[in-house]
Amino acid sequence: MQPTETVLRGCGDKPTSPGLLANPLDFISEDHLRERQICAVIERLATATSLDPQAITSVLRFLNEELNVHLRDEAEDLFPLLSRRCTQEDAIEGAITRIRADQDEAMRLLPQVRAMLAGCLDDGVDLTVEERAVLTKFAGHVRRHVIAENAILLPIARVRLTQVDLRTLSKHMRSRRGLPDLLEAIHAE
Ligand SMILES: [Fe+2]
Repeated sequence: MQPTETVLRGCGDKPTSPGLLANPLDFISEDHLRERQICAVIERLATATSLDPQAITSVLRFLNEELNVHLRDEAEDLFPLLSRRCTQEDAIEGAITRIRADQDEAMRLLPQVRAMLAGCLDDGVDLTVEERAVLTKFAGHVRRHVIAENAILLPIARVRLTQVDLRTLSKHMRSRRGLPDLLEAIHAE
């Protein structure tokens, strides 16, 4: 393991380190680890016999601060770059369409999931059976997108995207998080 990996790579228990943004595909891969970890928490909440306010707060923070920006990284930058660079034999469009379907379904359920969890924190009343089913469904869609992207999109991206593409991706991902471009940041020092 490289020394930087020891510092930057986590186990998905906290937001992905901005230090990985210089390697945007590594950052996205790490974000997926984070999503899997949060899905496990959501699935635990869906079957728990008692409320866990700390777990609910962690999930809400992820939903409010991390998920949307991750999906934008992909929809606005990664997918268009892949569409531009991939050959027909990569059959990337079909994979992107399936992944988008899971992302869209997760986003459709997101306001409901957010409201249910915030409601639990506010009134201390446990989730209903129907609400638990929505949580499980939401986690399922997020998990499927992560699995398909890790198995299909990221390996192809690592082969097909050029250095310029990766630089553009990194720049846009930094900008989306309110961070200056890496070169600008270096020149400013
Ligand atoms: Fe993703």
